[in-house]
Amino acid sequence: MRIRLSQFSLGYDQAGSGLPLVFIHGYPLSRRLWAAQVEALSAFALVMAVDLRGHGDSDPVPGPYSMEALADDILEFLQANQIHRPFVACGLSMGGYVALALARRHPEQLAGLILTATRAAADSPETRLNRDKAAALARQQGVQAIVESMLPRLIAARTYGERPHLLETLREIMQATSLEGVLGDLEGMKTRPDSTAFLPDLHLPVLILHGAEDQLIPLREAQAMQAALPQAHLEVIPGAGHLPNLEQPERFNQAVRRYLAGLQEKN
Ligand code: MLT
Repeated sequence: MRIRLSQFSLGYDQAGSGLPLVFIHGYPLSRRLWAAQVEALSAFALVMAVDLRGHGDSDPVPGPYSMEALADDILEFLQANQIHRPFVACGLSMGGYVALALARRHPEQLAGLILTATRAAADSPETRLNRDKAAALARQQGVQAIVESMLPRLIAARTYGERPHLLETLREIMQATSLEGVLGDLEGMKTRPDSTAFLPDLHLPVLILHGAEDQLIPLREAQAMQAALPQAHLEVIPGAGHLPNLEQPERFNQAVRRYLAGLQEKN
């Protein structure tokens, strides 16, 4: 489905009813990443998976895409979609940076937060330089070059062996990202603020999910978030790399279901 927002039309999937649960994909992916969640979790929540601007079926608009602008897109989407109650934001990697921007700026709009394969820290100087190199590569050789450079490190070695078709699905998802999307994300991630100092002020139920074999964002980043968030529960998903929801959907969905049940008990 698509819905018109003030600056662009946004693609999304929606299923189920009850507590709103919004899935936010990472870079340079799309809502297709969450297919197994939309299907399995719609019995427990009103599940929505969005394409961020410049990704999937959402129109490309010129960047940079600050994490705050992407967070505001989510709020505008919910308004336009007539959802007026607090929601759970589940963000993966860059989607986690967006979820943290939502929590920093609009905690009253949130019922909970699921931080998947992400970090609270800002980019290091070295990562910033790598963002510039990636942007130059994308400008010179197109999105395809970015896709091929990232694919080998996205999922766990075992996943590649056991489910080789996942590689093709991922390639397809990533190749559908526009050049504007790739450049907009890179610039936005590079300048995002550090959320570490804010974490102790975050008074929301938080679930942290991380693949044991994540090569892009090491497990210690999830452990650091948990250390700053005493009320958060960290679940490490074995046999998964950077995309635990795709690699180990049953394990991932089970953790989310338990978390949702805990939230519903409290309310
Ligand atoms: C992502 O998966 O969204 C990115 O790898 C995050 C990042 O580059 O910091």
